[in-house]
Formats: sequence, structure tokens, C-alpha cells
Amino acid sequence: MSLDAVLARIDTDLPAATDRLLELLRIPSISTDPAYKADCDRAADWLVADLASLGVAVEKRPTPGHPMVVGHVDGPGPHILFYGHYDVQPVDPLNLWDRDPFDPALEETARGTVIRGRGAADDKGQLMTFIEACRAWKAEHGSLPCKITFFLEGEEESGSPSLVPFMKENADELKAELALICDTGLFQSKTPAIMTMLRGLLGEELTITGPDKDLHSGMYGGIARNPARVLTKILGGLFDDDGVIQVPELYEGVPVLSDELKAQWEGLGFDDKAFLGDVGLSIPAGESSVTPLEMIWARPTAEINGIWSGYTGDGFKTVLPSKAHAKISFRLVGTQDPEAIRKNFRAWVEAQLPADCKIAWKDHSCSPASQMSIEHPGFEAARQALSDEWPDPAAYAGCGGSIPIAGYFKTILGMDAMLVGWGKDDDQIHSPNEKYDLESFHKGIRSWARILEAMTRG
Ligand code: BES
Ligand code: MN
Ligand code: MN
Repeated sequence: MSLDAVLARIDTDLPAATDRLLELLRIPSISTDPAYKADCDRAADWLVADLASLGVAVEKRPTPGHPMVVGHVDGPGPHILFYGHYDVQPVDPLNLWDRDPFDPALEETARGTVIRGRGAADDKGQLMTFIEACRAWKAEHGSLPCKITFFLEGEEESGSPSLVPFMKENADELKAELALICDTGLFQSKTPAIMTMLRGLLGEELTITGPDKDLHSGMYGGIARNPARVLTKILGGLFDDDGVIQVPELYEGVPVLSDELKAQWEGLGFDDKAFLGDVGLSIPAGESSVTPLEMIWARPTAEINGIWSGYTGDGFKTVLPSKAHAKISFRLVGTQDPEAIRKNFRAWVEAQLPADCKIAWKDHSCSPASQMSIEHPGFEAARQALSDEWPDPAAYAGCGGSIPIAGYFKTILGMDAMLVGWGKDDDQIHSPNEKYDLESFHKGIRSWARILEAMTRG
């Protein structure tokens, strides 16, 4: 089978592939917002129709939330499963976008041509790289290269509430030899990377109530307890001066890295000045005893994602608020136990609460970190294939973000997962003006063709 013909086909077909992606990007499939339920459904329908055009036996499968798209195509071994997500993050604040997030377009920038729009990089552009590689393969060879199960989710950006039950109920159908996940990025925006570690995630939301109503801060200020002051004092103690998180037992399960792994990471030459410089910063803010790359890949974090209380509108109001709120997330590594950390964090906060304050908790995301096994021969095949496509050889890397399904493939279906993707650090995923480099889209499609060829060769 000729790979060159497939690659040439991909090159010629790029404008049409881009148009197809723009079409998918026009569907505002924001999974967390019930107002976009019909649009999530429409995005699933669009993918069903597209996969069906490749000869895939594909269906939109209902869940209590947004549907899954599941498809199968038979072929010679190995049997692989491809995973991506068709849902996107909300777009607010809308006023910071330079264009309508759901009226995507190609834009020329100083760093090259980009596809601008919500979901361009996370994850519609990425999942389409795999589908486009399949399309080019089919056009040249009349069929897909191997037995493939397609598994596309519509709730990834809202904590995947239906995912685990769906995987359990459909375990026999979904089980394959290896899962391929396209939802990560290049290392330092240029080196193709196979992610071998992902951090876990634990989300917590808390509300502290002081007085039972908002008060005039002149009448009550000084005598009545201000819950915003209570909250900020507690959160102010979350870290010590060396950046160490103060929640008891939090570091249980945080692995000590082997010298071999440290040396391999050192060899990647991570440029923390450039990485931080891109976002207007210069000083790594993690534990003082840890290298910058370890801070992102191998250490836990506690992050205040949101904090609000009192009056935050225009002008000024001398209010003594009744309530103060915060959303806090922990990124987890190694074998840190999310449930134990939830329990210890709550106890740590509550122990510091004055007797006349009340606290209410709300659970959010909860998933452990995952460590990939790279023994399956597909990993080396992919690493070679990626090194053939990109200027730099491919690297095994860590990933600071979280993709809970990567772990579930192992724990629920007993299969390994390989994470590759073509995103760049400056793609602004989840933020205003998200983009995907046209080059990432193009080389991503070519990369999948090479990976599929390498994995099915011989
Ligand atoms: N694609 C991202 C994960 C990611 C982020 C990979 C950055 C590589 C670099 C995924 O869609 C995502 O946003 N995950 C969430 C967690 C999820 C449970 C909401 C995250 O990491 O915050
Ligand atoms: Mn994603
Ligand atoms: Mn995301």
C-alpha cells in the first residue's frame, strides 16, 4: 500500500478538509450549557453523517446527557479505537473575541495561517485530523487501513457525567487493542509528543455564610464577621512560602521521579522563559525545590479558579456580604487519591471556620492521574511515524491537563491508550480567540496517515 499516495491526497484535499472543519465549528456544541442541547445533538448528527460517508457503521447513541457517536469499520488487525470530543467550552467573555466564536474563518497571523473559532483546537480540529486521514486512505485504497472503532464524546468539557456508565454498559462493543486519543498538543509548540502521564483533577466549590443577610458595612462593620475575610484568610494559607500545599496528607501518592525520567525530561530542553514569556510572566511559581517542567507534569497543584463575594459591579457599595464563594481545583499526580484529598481539604477548611460561620460544599470533577504503559508496539511505530512527519523527532512527554477517559480505557476496558495531538501552547483553548494552526491541521492529518500505515504494516 502506498503511503505517498495517501499523503499526496491529503495535501490536495486540504482546502476541502478545512471547509468540512469550518462547517463542524459553526455548530455551537457547548456541552455545559443546557441552552445548546440541540446544537450538541446537531454536532453528533454531523459526525454520524460524515463517518457514514466513509463506510463506517455509525450511530448516535443516547445517554442521559449528550449523545455519544459510536461507529465501527471492519478490516485487518490491529483493532484500534479512536476517541475525540465534539463538545466545546463556553465562549464568555464574548467581548474579548475578535470575531464570532461560531463563525470560524482562516486568518493570516504573524505566526502563520490559523483556523479561528471555538473548538478549532479543542477538540473538533483535532478529531477531524483522524477522520480526514481515514478519508484520504479510503479514497486511495477503497477501504480503511484496519479495524477501527470510533468513539466521540459530547460531554468532555462538562466533566463526562455519562462516560463511565456508557463505557461499562458497552464494554464488549468498545473494547479494542489500543485506544488512540487526539486531544493533546505538541511539546513546546513544535515537537511531536506522545503523552505518557496525565494529571488528574479534583474540583471543589464552597460557600461560606456569615451574617444571614447582606449588611450595611457602616452599621455592622467591625462587629459582624465578614465571610469574604474568612474565605481569603483560609485560602491565603493554602500554600507556604516555598509553594507547598498545606492540606494534610495531600502529597501522599506523589511519585519520586526516577533519575532516568528526570534525565529524559531534562533532555527535552523545556524553555520556561519562553513558555511564561508568551503569557506575560517570567518567574515559575511552583515549589521552589522543583524544576519548571516537573511543576506542570509531575507535581500536584491547588488553583483558585474563581472567587466572589459582595459587590463587584460598577461603582461602589459599602456592603458587608452575607456569603463568600470559591471554586478550587487540584491537579493530581501519581496515585494521589481524589476522594481522600476532597475529605482532607474539607476538614482542613472547616477546622479554620469561626463557630458562627456556616459552610456549604459542592462536588465537581474527580479523576485520578494516569500513567500510560508504552509497551504496545503501536507506540514505537507511532514515534517513528511522527518523527518522519515533523522536523523534530517525537518525544515521550507528560501532560499537565486532564483527560479522564485515558485512565478509564485501562481501568474499565483493560486497554492502553496512546495520546497524541497537534495543539500548540498559544492555541488559547477554553479562552477567547481560540485557534488551530492550519499547519497543525494539515500535518496532523498526515501524521495519522503515517501512524495508521506504521501500525498496520507487516
Ligand atoms: N483537551 C483538554 C486537555 C488538555 C489540556 C490536554 C491542555 C493538553 C493540554 C481537555 O478538553 C480538557 O480541557 N480537560 C479539562 C478537564 C475536564 C475534566 C473538564 C482540563 O484539563 O481542565
Ligand atoms: Mn479536549
Ligand atoms: Mn478542553
